[in-house]
Amino acid sequence: MYRIGNQRIAAPILAFVSLVVLASFLGCGPYRPDVQGPFNVYLTLPDDTSHGMVVNYHTLPPAANSEVRYDTVSRAGTADTYSSHTEGTPQAFTYVPDGRLVHCVRLQALAPATTYYFVVGDAKSGYSKEYKFRTLPEHSEGLTFVNGGDMGTSDAAKTLLKLAAAREPWFAIVGGDLSYASRAPSGAKEWDHWFRNWSECMVTPQGYSIPIVTTVGNHELKDQPASPAFDDRSPFYWRFFGHQGEHPYFSRKIGDAAFVFLDSGNLVPHEGAQTEWLAAELAKYKDAPVKFAVYHQPLYPSYRDFEGDSAAVGRKLWEPLFDQYRVAAAFEHHDHTFKRSKRIKNNEVNPEGTLYLGDGCFGQKPRKVDGKPRWYLEKSSSTAHFWLVNQTKDTLRFQAINTEGKVFDECTLPVAPDAPVSNAPAAAAAQPVQQPETAGAAK
Ligand SMILES: [Fe+2]
Repeated sequence: MYRIGNQRIAAPILAFVSLVVLASFLGCGPYRPDVQGPFNVYLTLPDDTSHGMVVNYHTLPPAANSEVRYDTVSRAGTADTYSSHTEGTPQAFTYVPDGRLVHCVRLQALAPATTYYFVVGDAKSGYSKEYKFRTLPEHSEGLTFVNGGDMGTSDAAKTLLKLAAAREPWFAIVGGDLSYASRAPSGAKEWDHWFRNWSECMVTPQGYSIPIVTTVGNHELKDQPASPAFDDRSPFYWRFFGHQGEHPYFSRKIGDAAFVFLDSGNLVPHEGAQTEWLAAELAKYKDAPVKFAVYHQPLYPSYRDFEGDSAAVGRKLWEPLFDQYRVAAAFEHHDHTFKRSKRIKNNEVNPEGTLYLGDGCFGQKPRKVDGKPRWYLEKSSSTAHFWLVNQTKDTLRFQAINTEGKVFDECTLPVAPDAPVSNAPAAAAAQPVQQPETAGAAK
């Protein structure tokens, strides 16, 4: 026994306390972000994309409530001068040592295509600086969005985010493998780094924060979850982005454009309920002239095995639905390469078919493509990039942009509003207008 003052202390307890003090002194203690007030402020898209916005942020405890104060004119961050406010209920994120509160506030009954200025927080935690967003219009003419996946927090990721924001996209899609953070509670530090990059870089030249839409990737999954619950199997992703849908698959409609966001076998399998939902959802949107699908693992990979499990089951169950309902483009990820497929229908090259664009290289180091021709690929290369998509009255334009901001591949598809859903006349094949970088490209 040892004595401190009048207290007799057992040697093991003293050793433990000493270790904790030493670890804390050396910065080895549990991670706790060095922040005051709200942090990790980000936007996600609601079901009604033209009349709402979902505002998300984190605070360290305690917090009284979740609150967004907003207005159509700038109030320079003075919280009590904003004309409107909406409240929500914070969720305690007990998985991480700091026990942070995750706030998700759904703004509703907003005007379309309108600028809103906002702050988040509460009287106890304090309020954020002022941000602004723009609600989406009720039409999709002029639709501009970016897509990529497999990001992390590298310098390349930051570069690509800034280049993406410079194109004034209405929103950004990240198709899985967002932060590459540890799935252990200590991963909070890497997620905070990722959110910091996102909120700093994903601001347009006009100052708009860019909403994010996500799908789940394999790097969002815990190795040995204790239960089948989504928030146990994917603790960070599900807590931060699970609110986008009741399931890991969901849809959004923006004017004439319908998007289905899918889970390629990470939290839920392709088969069963998800594929039944996909069939029903595409049937619901059968008259939408423009349809996109987004998911993580590719049906037509540029690096991995064509016969890999996820690719094969996706082609068997999802591709017939993409064909039937004439999905214009499917955004694929996971392979850390660049690729553009030929137009494919019924597992064959077909001028009416779907474009498969990818392959998830929005910050991760590009992998080498194998150099062997793959019959379904128009182009592939080892190039970090993101996709920029624009819709005009008659055309969908797809541009691949690298870390130098250069458009290194581009193609267009017609928007065919009057074309029937199936047995449609052949649409023009994708028209490449610029030669790609082809490091070992498969042609
Ligand atoms: Fe992946």
